Amino acid sequence: MFSLKNKVAFIIGAGSVGPGWGNGRATATLLARQGAKVFALDKSPQALEETIRIIREEGGEVEGAVCDATIGEEIHTAIEACVKRFGRLDILVNNIGGSQPGGVEQLSEDDWDAQINYNLKSVYLSCKHAMPYLKQSPGSAIVNVSSVAALRMMKARPHSAYSAAKYGVIALSRSIAIQNAPAGVRCNTVIPGLMNTPVVEHRLVKQLGSVGAQELIANRDAQIPLGKAGTGWDIAHAVLFLVSDEAGHITGTELLVDGGYTAAAA
Ligand SMILES: NC(=O)c1ccc[n+]([C@@H]2O[C@H](COP(=O)([O-])OP(=O)(O)OC[C@H]3O[C@@H](n4cnc5c(N)ncnc54)[C@H](O)[C@@H]3O)[C@@H](O)[C@H]2O)c1
Repeated sequence: MFSLKNKVAFIIGAGSVGPGWGNGRATATLLARQGAKVFALDKSPQALEETIRIIREEGGEVEGAVCDATIGEEIHTAIEACVKRFGRLDILVNNIGGSQPGGVEQLSEDDWDAQINYNLKSVYLSCKHAMPYLKQSPGSAIVNVSSVAALRMMKARPHSAYSAAKYGVIALSRSIAIQNAPAGVRCNTVIPGLMNTPVVEHRLVKQLGSVGAQELIANRDAQIPLGKAGTGWDIAHAVLFLVSDEAGHITGTELLVDGGYTAAAA
């Protein structure tokens, strides 16, 4: 089950903001373990190099490119390089994203545009340029990574642009799914809840400024009905399921990976 043998997976944001397992690094590694040939993409050369090293050391097949996925020309070039190297494209995973907190009064227009470009336009760009190749591959699939911030708003700490963009990812994925279903291309969204990835230590602690990493992790764990924030591997397994042939009748939907966080708020 869940074999990706002979499939080519293009994974955007395949590194991690710090050492350890981000959602993208875990996904790239897991898909390679399942037999996919992975084309890994990241803006950070060091983060990309680490993912490539891990996959190669495990005996997986991987190539990579440093690329800014918010720039159409760069993503187009990288997709062409993937197809040139591996001859096809079966799986696209859009994993980049991150939040700049602030309500509409606090965010500048530039901040707003940057958040939408980063979290939403990047998804449009890669889907646009990958689609002609995905249509040629029977059983092809896209997974876009959203966030629970699309579904649950924090009263004390709004993330208006991030929430809007990540909600947009869900709508865009459904639209892509329906338009391209006749061509056999599936498209779904994974919605992570609070995940204990390197982002917590390397970005959120700095953003908050008032708590240390251990305290923040404990605060996040306490909000999860299952008792603990998830990890990059929880996201990776959800992505694996959705891109696998076993999920062949699933398109235009969302898989919430949040330990019960969203249901508890209802
Ligand atoms: N960690 C969480 O708690 C959490 C919760 C909900 C949603 N998410 C979502 O999961 C995804 C990944 O999260 P993560 O924790 O693994 O983050 P991460 O920042 O560790 O990993 C993202 C990777 O994307 C790369 N990247 C950033 N901008 C890029 C660009 N323009 N072009 C190419 N690569 C770029 C980064 O260098 C990094 O290696 C994001 O979409 C995020 O919004 C995370």
